[in-house]
Amino acid sequence: MPDRDWRPKFHIQPPTGWLNDPNGSCFFGGKYHIYFQYTPENPNGGNKSWGHYESSDLAHFTYVDTPLKPDEDFDRNGVYSGTAWEENGTLELYYTGNVKHPGDYDYINEGRGHNVVRVTTDDCVHYTAKELLLENSDYPENLSCHVRDPKIFKSDKDTDYYMLLGARTRDSHGGLLFMKSSDRQTWKTDLLFCPEGFGYMLECPDFFTLDRKNGQTGVVSFCPQGMESEESKFQNIYQSGYCLLSDEIIDKARDGLDSENHVLYSTLKNNITVENFTEWDMGFDFYAPQVFAAPDGRRILIGWAGVPDAPYHNTKTVEQGWQHCMTVCRELKLLNGRIYQNPVGELEKLREREIFIGKVEDGAWIAMNGSSWDAEVLFEKNGECYRKININDELTLEENENGLVMSIAEECGDGRRVRRIENVRLEKVRILFDESIVEFYINDGEYVMTSRYYPSESLAMKMSVTGCAAEVKAYIMNSGIEIGKSN
Ligand code: FRU
Repeated sequence: MPDRDWRPKFHIQPPTGWLNDPNGSCFFGGKYHIYFQYTPENPNGGNKSWGHYESSDLAHFTYVDTPLKPDEDFDRNGVYSGTAWEENGTLELYYTGNVKHPGDYDYINEGRGHNVVRVTTDDCVHYTAKELLLENSDYPENLSCHVRDPKIFKSDKDTDYYMLLGARTRDSHGGLLFMKSSDRQTWKTDLLFCPEGFGYMLECPDFFTLDRKNGQTGVVSFCPQGMESEESKFQNIYQSGYCLLSDEIIDKARDGLDSENHVLYSTLKNNITVENFTEWDMGFDFYAPQVFAAPDGRRILIGWAGVPDAPYHNTKTVEQGWQHCMTVCRELKLLNGRIYQNPVGELEKLREREIFIGKVEDGAWIAMNGSSWDAEVLFEKNGECYRKININDELTLEENENGLVMSIAEECGDGRRVRRIENVRLEKVRILFDESIVEFYINDGEYVMTSRYYPSESLAMKMSVTGCAAEVKAYIMNSGIEIGKSN
């Protein structure tokens, strides 16, 4: 008997083959564009291209094409991650061209080229020729060959542009490399900042601002590799999180030296610390997010629902010729020193019909009648006992004396078992379940847990709440993803 189709209905996925990081996410020419790391020919990965999805509403996405392929000397081993910058009606895409020189190299300190490459487009259909902007000799000498994933930004008050890259030093410290340019053509190192305690490499850095009461707060997001796991922190092999900056660095940054006197340096030094680092998502499958602005000013995050080199797998989708997907688009809000994440409101357009609206008694089951659904659970406040959400007796999210635990039954997780969050209670949860992925938005988005989960029964799914009664609203979701044909 053929196995079920594990493809999500409303999470971006590869038409065939492998997907990782979102790239060049933006709103441009009246549409949203999500490019992504893509190996169409192999569900286990390989040489990376950029695939491209577009959307007019952040709920319906259509796969367009694979516009950037590794076809030049300077990107022949991968069109790696990067971002988009709009200037005068033109979209500029900056990415890392990965090159592995043949030979007996370690590919860390020798043998690898990480180039910054740019292409531009006026319509996201036609793209200009690739332009090599930077190569390893343009970066500080103490950096290894790993310098990648450019993000471009600029403050309204500043005439200079910044490029932020993730880096690894020759002695294996993770670093953030800030380069500066007045014309986006010639870039010079402004500052290399290597925070303590974040391991040997920082990937996929991002810089953006969020509104707060009296202005804006700068946020630096990055993915450290090499941090030690703790019982309820940094539980995945690689991390993804952010630090809030007490001052907006781009307003303060001035021409200066890589020294204690550099304003940018001291702002980063005071704020980018392990204590101030907040993980974006506490589930098994989250990495390399990008944040972009919607035309109405909202800051939207999209992440890869996967982690490189994870010790768990997606055997069932690989058997069907594809692997990995993105999270849904999440709106970010700054509240009490923390970034709250919630699915963009547009997703509610995909609610096809009600499954259940009303009060669910402690211990009662609801039949979910489908395998793609959106449920809101608001627990009654009795505070006395531990509350729990149980999906199929296979996936549970529950309180204990220390906080929250998400558990997946052995036969449904492909290696995923337990993830924890300390010091939090289960008051309100929004659950997006989509065929083989779940996203728990806990307490209005204070915490998120994203994980792949392969239920043993998808059509007969059921959910219960225990610990106390809850108000539940649950809906079957329509499909929002059109994958068409891969090219
Ligand atoms: C993160 C990452 C990036 C790199 C890309 C290659 O997952 O390793 O640093 O540019 O993936 O696909």
